[in-house]
Amino acid sequence: MNNIHEEIKINFMGFSGHGIALSKDVDDELTRVGPESPAGEYLRRYWHPVFLSKDLDEQPVAIKILDEELVIFRDKSGNLGLVHKHCPHRQASLEFGMCTDSGIQCCYHGWHFAADGSILDVPGQPEKAADMIKQRVRLGAYPTHEHKGLIFAYMGPIESIPEFPVYDSFDFENMEMVPYKAPFGCNWLQVLDAIVDPIHTAFLHSNVSRVQFSAGFGEVGQMDFFERKSWILGCNTRRVGDNVWLRINEVILPNFTQAGSAFTADGTKEIFYGRSSFTRWVVPIDDETTICYAWANFGERGDPQEYNTPEGPELIEQGEVFDRPYEQKQKFPADVEACEGMGPITIHNNENLTTSDIGVALMRRQIREQIRDLSAGKEPMHVSPSDTAPIPTYGGDTVLNISRKTEGDELSLLSKIAHEFIEIQFAVDGKSENKRISIVTDKLKEMQSGYNCPE
Ligand code: FES
Ligand SMILES: [Fe+2]
Repeated sequence: MNNIHEEIKINFMGFSGHGIALSKDVDDELTRVGPESPAGEYLRRYWHPVFLSKDLDEQPVAIKILDEELVIFRDKSGNLGLVHKHCPHRQASLEFGMCTDSGIQCCYHGWHFAADGSILDVPGQPEKAADMIKQRVRLGAYPTHEHKGLIFAYMGPIESIPEFPVYDSFDFENMEMVPYKAPFGCNWLQVLDAIVDPIHTAFLHSNVSRVQFSAGFGEVGQMDFFERKSWILGCNTRRVGDNVWLRINEVILPNFTQAGSAFTADGTKEIFYGRSSFTRWVVPIDDETTICYAWANFGERGDPQEYNTPEGPELIEQGEVFDRPYEQKQKFPADVEACEGMGPITIHNNENLTTSDIGVALMRRQIREQIRDLSAGKEPMHVSPSDTAPIPTYGGDTVLNISRKTEGDELSLLSKIAHEFIEIQFAVDGKSENKRISIVTDKLKEMQSGYNCPE
């Protein structure tokens, strides 16, 4: 009897379920997004997309953004409104209001509001009482801006409103931008983490699940991370035969993301300075729900036009269509399964970060610093265009023909190439897009022949 017991003990030695205590402490500072929460106030200092233009017709729509109940509408003159959901009279929901020529009218007692939240009319009241209400009461409203099928809003203090940031990728030549949205049932930060975690493409999107993008993603390659003002860049450099494939994933704080193409690039074909196949913001709906609003970019320097189908943006976003049976999700998990599976809010204390998570660590540290600065009264960083060019972005694919060296450490070589490529790009900030394309392309060709020259 004793011997059997001893044998069991030996066989199960090392099983440590009972000994590993899991934390339940949420990193509130980074993850909570409601009004007056530290991250919530930080995020409120930026413009975010909040709705797709195509989904807004003559009826108002109830939405939630940054854990605030809102109503979005377009009045009959075409003005956009984004207002607090509840009417300041007696709290009826304005989702049941009527869009008028100059705003929205509450269904319950007919108070009439302009898109800026001012009260236009208080029907059924003596003139004096109505005037007093117009002077004293306002409906909460936020500024909006519509661009290429996305509706953006700014939800912070109006005295701190930043310029609407115009990135170079808003206007790439010969690129068709298709707006889409991708819902996630979890906190915003764990969705954002994925973009500065390029190594997951080799596993989630290739070797573990199935080949969800091009076949070349299965190679792990070299990972280098770069911090620059509001930018955090992860460059994944892979060896593909005689080629070197550089793929840059990009975050511009707090939540703007870009990366290379999902289907065009596989490292087999030379590409000089390909650009991002999506331009995307990770927008918190509440602490446990997120929607990515984005454009899928189709064209020569993005993803191919053949993916410009109803499912195309979904495949570019996560390698699988969104709406599929649970069984399929288990067999072929994609980003949504990886992120939601962590739970509604990832507990950072239970993670064990490693070298490939440097981007994640850098980004969280930057966000925390910005949040703390704001709490101490310092406005967070903003990107701004130069006088001559829009804000530069760096996400994309480049494939150079650089043959394998027989001597030396291959990963160090890939890292060196990645550093040189980033420097080439940084050096042309502030120049027009056409100038950037021609200078970067020339420099890349120069660099390529330099590496191929016999010593
Ligand atoms: S509750 Fe809106 S007008 Fe009365
Ligand atoms: Fe992914």
